[in-house]
Amino acid sequence: MCGIVGCIGIENPVDYLIDGLKELEYRGYDSAGIAVKDNNEIKVIKAVGKLKNLEDKVKNVKFYNPEFGIGHTRWATHGKPTEINAHPHVGKFSAVVHNGIIENYQEIKKFLQKEGIDFISQTDTEVIVRLFEYFYNGDSFEAFKKTLEKLEGAYAVLLITNSDNKIFFAKKGSPLIVAKGEGIYFASSDAPLIGYANRAHYLEDEEWGYVNENEIILFRKNEKISPYFKELPASKESAKKGGFRFYMEKEIYEQSDILKETTLGRNTPNGIKFDELDRSFFDGISNIIISACGTSYHAGLVGKYLLERDAKIRTNVEVASELRYRAPLLTKDTLFIVISQSGETADTLETLKMAKKAGLKTLALCNVDNSSIVREADKTILLRAGIEKGVASTKAFATQVMTLWMLSNYLAQKNEYDAINEAIEVTKVDISLHEKIKRLSKRYLHGHGFFYIGRDIFFPLALEGALKLKEISYIHAEGYPAGEMKHGPIALADEDLYVVALLSKNILYEKTKSNIEELVARDATVLTISSEYIEMTDDFVKINKTNHPMVEFFEMMVITQLLAMEVAIRMGNDVDMPRNLAKSVTVE
Ligand code: M6R
Repeated sequence: MCGIVGCIGIENPVDYLIDGLKELEYRGYDSAGIAVKDNNEIKVIKAVGKLKNLEDKVKNVKFYNPEFGIGHTRWATHGKPTEINAHPHVGKFSAVVHNGIIENYQEIKKFLQKEGIDFISQTDTEVIVRLFEYFYNGDSFEAFKKTLEKLEGAYAVLLITNSDNKIFFAKKGSPLIVAKGEGIYFASSDAPLIGYANRAHYLEDEEWGYVNENEIILFRKNEKISPYFKELPASKESAKKGGFRFYMEKEIYEQSDILKETTLGRNTPNGIKFDELDRSFFDGISNIIISACGTSYHAGLVGKYLLERDAKIRTNVEVASELRYRAPLLTKDTLFIVISQSGETADTLETLKMAKKAGLKTLALCNVDNSSIVREADKTILLRAGIEKGVASTKAFATQVMTLWMLSNYLAQKNEYDAINEAIEVTKVDISLHEKIKRLSKRYLHGHGFFYIGRDIFFPLALEGALKLKEISYIHAEGYPAGEMKHGPIALADEDLYVVALLSKNILYEKTKSNIEELVARDATVLTISSEYIEMTDDFVKINKTNHPMVEFFEMMVITQLLAMEVAIRMGNDVDMPRNLAKSVTVE
């Protein structure tokens, strides 16, 4: 997730830009930059890596009369994290920062190139500034308006130009706030604004306009409107958590928006598109091996069901720490996929090296561009989850499963555009449902353990639900195939055995229901999650009716995450930093 800041009408805009970018660090970044109007010139300073690198560079720049500026932290989506690809992007007399993805940038770029305009970066963002300058004929307001009319996709944009003492802004799909204090400020979230501004207008989609030193000129589509100001929160820390109790909670709540980023420009009405892949990459492939650890391994297991059922490609999923010490048969008709949030997991990385050594084609599904895994793999699909702070992975898992779903559609040439969008919708947390889970979590604190059960894709979800619970609540939990309980574990059933049953209406409903009955008959305490009400279990959480199992999957996923979190909170645990665990496991 990129971060944006901007300001005008204050004595030293550079200070706010740098301070503001520091406050946005928590969103993750791989490069950063600022553009400042100083004595009729736009000065642009960019640096790759830590913000300190940018800060050091800025210290060596002489500003004479800095008037206003914009800044950006970048989390690479199109193009490598290099200085050229870092924002602000500049044209001949303007600069732009952008968060989101311009879906039709290729089209715009081709058009402008035909008009003789050169591009220097690999990013989608550069088209904004080039288009603005193409339309500019003395009226920057009109040029900005025309530019917005051409853009498709998601954006939060700030643009400055040498010819006007204004910051132009627009929001569609990505967050942007404009706030007032001594001057006028912009930021992607509250944190940078605290201490500088006291009231903020949270821009809605399709809002745009410009600010000068004193006023905010705001439009919603073509109608001029007044800003609706709200008080800003008082504490920076709570602002970073977006008012949530834990980062994990914030990350659960933002999943639906994050999935929009993951699918943007990829899930199209005409099927799946991956700019980063060429179909020929899959020539000669008749097997897939997926290698990963922990949550990423569970996502891989979901991938196996999808890839075999839809794309008809034999798929094996391997725990990386096992695979690397076996003598696996690695044949050249196998595509080797590694899945990793961090891109630094030692075991996963080693299996990737092993596969490369054996001459296999390799593909990484990863959240961190320029990580060791991304550098090693032949091709990468970035997950676009933004930085994940909670040690217990939630939104990264959601993006991994979504990416595997899109990949299987891509390989099967199957179009599930609507189902994917439906899945994104149901991932939005329903507050009353969350309240219900908070209440019922108190029943599940003192038993002798949990089983999460499900069949088909709901089996890996059961594994992941159990992992979430044990990581943060320290209660023993296991995920099990529902049909396998009778082959042993059912011996544990009594009223102090808790079972979370993932009952899909679309896959093996009757069979899973029978497995639940077997547990109820032995007095286990059962919580069922389903769209079909069943009376026999102790607790029931209802999900929406749908014809697609993956839509059920995403809604159930959120419920299992919330349940784990609420149990852990009741146990008094630090949900974001569970004992004995690290976010990135770079040792064997
Ligand atoms: O960064 P990775 O996805 O490679 O990490 C793999 C596991 O260490 C990770 O998923 C771990 O299981 C999480 N703590 C799960 O919440």
